[in-house]
Amino acid sequence: MKAVRVHAFDATPVLEDIPEPVPRPGRTLVRMEAATVGHIDRTVWRGSFLKHPPFPYTPGVEASGVVVASAAHPEGQRVWLRGSGLGTLFDGTWCELIDAPDEAVGLLPDGVPAAVGSAFFSPSTSAWVALHDVARLSAGECVLVTGATGAVGSLAVQLALDAGAEVTALVADAAQAAWMPPAAKVVVLGSNLAASLESVSVDLLIDTVGGPVLAAVLPRVRPGGRAVLVGYTAGNTLTLDIAHFLQRDVSLLPLNMFRRESAGRVAAPELLARLADGRLELDVRPFALQDAAKAMDWISQRGHRGRAVLVTGR
Ligand SMILES: NC(=O)c1ccc[n+]([C@@H]2O[C@H](COP(=O)([O-])OP(=O)(O)OC[C@H]3O[C@@H](n4cnc5c(N)ncnc54)[C@H](OP(=O)(O)O)[C@@H]3O)[C@@H](O)[C@H]2O)c1
Repeated sequence: MKAVRVHAFDATPVLEDIPEPVPRPGRTLVRMEAATVGHIDRTVWRGSFLKHPPFPYTPGVEASGVVVASAAHPEGQRVWLRGSGLGTLFDGTWCELIDAPDEAVGLLPDGVPAAVGSAFFSPSTSAWVALHDVARLSAGECVLVTGATGAVGSLAVQLALDAGAEVTALVADAAQAAWMPPAAKVVVLGSNLAASLESVSVDLLIDTVGGPVLAAVLPRVRPGGRAVLVGYTAGNTLTLDIAHFLQRDVSLLPLNMFRRESAGRVAAPELLARLADGRLELDVRPFALQDAAKAMDWISQRGHRGRAVLVTGR
């Protein structure tokens, strides 16, 4: 079968023929239909994650497909796959036939396209858990989302609106502003970050960006409010004036989806139902399996929209 293989950290992934996996107890074989290329895969590939499969390895933490052989899941079942060591401890999903632990497999409803089913878990459960489990969002609250065009950010905007919040979305330019749902207020970040945000005042910040953007948006959270810190693409440090911080009494709440994986799995069926009936949308861009390196490059560029997925037969 064809599989994308990585022979060393940072080395260009290559498409190779490798032996097909054989059925084993505790494992489910899945014919891959779409396999996500996400930030976590890049982190493992660069050697910056706490673990990695032995070289050479097949990357890919998430995917969707159809069950071919399993004692735990019916043959022919559409499924999504995620975690349990896939692509981090052992070979992952960027291949034609995925050998997954039974517990990594979830049921994919018919209304959800394979590409969306592959990519939904990380961004949608992160957005859901950030809003509901970590921040305890209430209807009527004002929410600011940074990186609102990103996979997590765009879903946070949609889910917060759905929960009855008043949502302000922070984007980079006018073209990105047009991608936002009409019900969201949009703020375009100018070169003077603080000036662009002057009129913004919120109960809750969902920050997916970090660095100077976080430093600029944090003062826009009302005293007594909360800020959920999700990502740090723009920078991984934040300087706090402690006196100011104590006076403002804004709770800084980290999101750690590795520790909250089970909350994500609980939310997954509801999120899939919303993706199936169109209440939620996630952009996905397909790449051929042999274009894994291009897909990794695409997700690392500013201005990309949505998730990259690898598909077979293109
Ligand atoms: N804590 C957790 O458990 C957890 C869970 C899931 C994801 N994450 C992290 O959350 C972050 C977002 O994930 P994602 O999947 O949504 O990523 P994504 O789809 O690549 O989106 C990134 C967003 O950040 C914006 N952005 C990037 N660099 C920026 C900068 N320098 N200034 C302003 N905006 C910037 C992008 O806008 P432009 O297109 O304009 O650059 C885009 O809106 C990632 O760092 C990811 O690793 C963390």
